[in-house]
Amino acid sequence: MLNRKSFLQLSSLGLGSLYFSKLNAATRGGFKPIVISTWAEGINANKAAWEILKNKGRALDAVEAGVMVTEASQNCCVGLGANPDRDGIVTLDASIMDENGNCGSVGAIERIKHPISVARRVMEKTPHVMLVGQGAQQFAVAEGFPLEPQKLSDDAERSYKEWLKKAEYKPVINIENSGQKGHGPFAPTRFDNGDWNHDTIGMVALDAMGNVSGSCTTSGMGFKMRGRLGDSPIIGAGLFVDNEVGAATATGMGEEVIRICGTHLVVELMRQGYKPEDACKKAVERIVKKNYERAKANQVGFIAINKKGEYGGFCLQSGFNFAVCYGDNNNFMVDAKHYF
Ligand code: GLY
Repeated sequence: MLNRKSFLQLSSLGLGSLYFSKLNAATRGGFKPIVISTWAEGINANKAAWEILKNKGRALDAVEAGVMVTEASQNCCVGLGANPDRDGIVTLDASIMDENGNCGSVGAIERIKHPISVARRVMEKTPHVMLVGQGAQQFAVAEGFPLEPQKLSDDAERSYKEWLKKAEYKPVINIENSGQKGHGPFAPTRFDNGDWNHDTIGMVALDAMGNVSGSCTTSGMGFKMRGRLGDSPIIGAGLFVDNEVGAATATGMGEEVIRICGTHLVVELMRQGYKPEDACKKAVERIVKKNYERAKANQVGFIAINKKGEYGGFCLQSGFNFAVCYGDNNNFMVDAKHYF
C-alpha cells in the first residue's frame, strides 16, 4: 500500500498523479469465468459463450462459439446478411487469438458463413496468421466449409439500392468530413435515428482455468471500397490477447483503430497497471490526440478484461454499449463512457 511518505516521494518525481489515478481507476467485475462482447447482439453471443465457460470449457472455444451466433444472425450487420461493399458484394473479416499467443485471421472472404472458424483453422492448421480474399476462400473450401450463395439479404439489398441512388465515392479523407447522412462509404458514421454504422462483434473471455482468448468478426463498413480491410482481421488492431495481462477488442471506424494499434495499446496499458476501463480510455485519448477532427467525426469503442476478471470499455462518442456475462442470470448491457 502506498503510504504518505512514498506518495510524497512519487509526487516529487511527478508520478504521484499517475499512481493516484490507478488507485482510483474504475474497477468493475473481478469474476471468473467472464465474457464480454460489443453491442447488444453481444447478449446472445455471450449466452453461447457462457454455455462453454460455465462447464469449465476453454475461453478459445467460448469466443468462437459466441460470435458464430452473430455471424449466423440475419438481423445483424455481421456475417453474410450484412451490407455489401460498393460493388454489391459482401466481404467478411475475422480474427481469433488464444492464451498461448497463437492467432489467425481472414480478410475480405466471400460466401463463407463463419469466417471466425476459418480464422481458427488458419491459426491451427497453417504456419500463417492471415489469409485474404480468394486464397482465404480456397482454404476454407479445402477445409470443408460450404460455399454459400452469392446473394444479399433482403435488408442489405434494400440498403444497397438506396445507396446506389447516389453511389458517390470519393477519397476517404474527403468523405469522412463531408457530414453526409444516410448511406455512403465511411461518411455516415451516425444515422439519422442516432444509431452508429457499426458492423462488428468483438468478444473477449477469461475461463475457469484463468486463460484469456478473444475473437472479432465483421463485414466492415457498409459500401466500403472493394478490397478495403478494417481493423478486425489485424492482430493488435481489432483484437489482442496476452495471457499474462488480459485481452481487448475494438469496434467502430477501423482506420482509427489501426493507426494506433488500438487493442495492443490497451493490453500494454493494462500491463502497466491500468484497469480495463482506464486502459480503453487512454487508447481513445490517443486517437483524439492524433487527429481531433477525425476523431470527432467517427466512432470507436474498445472493451477489455484483465486476468482478475475485471472488465471495462470506453468510446469516442455516446451510444456504444457492450454485453457482460458472468452467470446464467448475469448477462447485461453496460453503456460505455465516452470522450466527446
Ligand atoms: N471495425 C470494423 C471495421 O472498421 O471494419
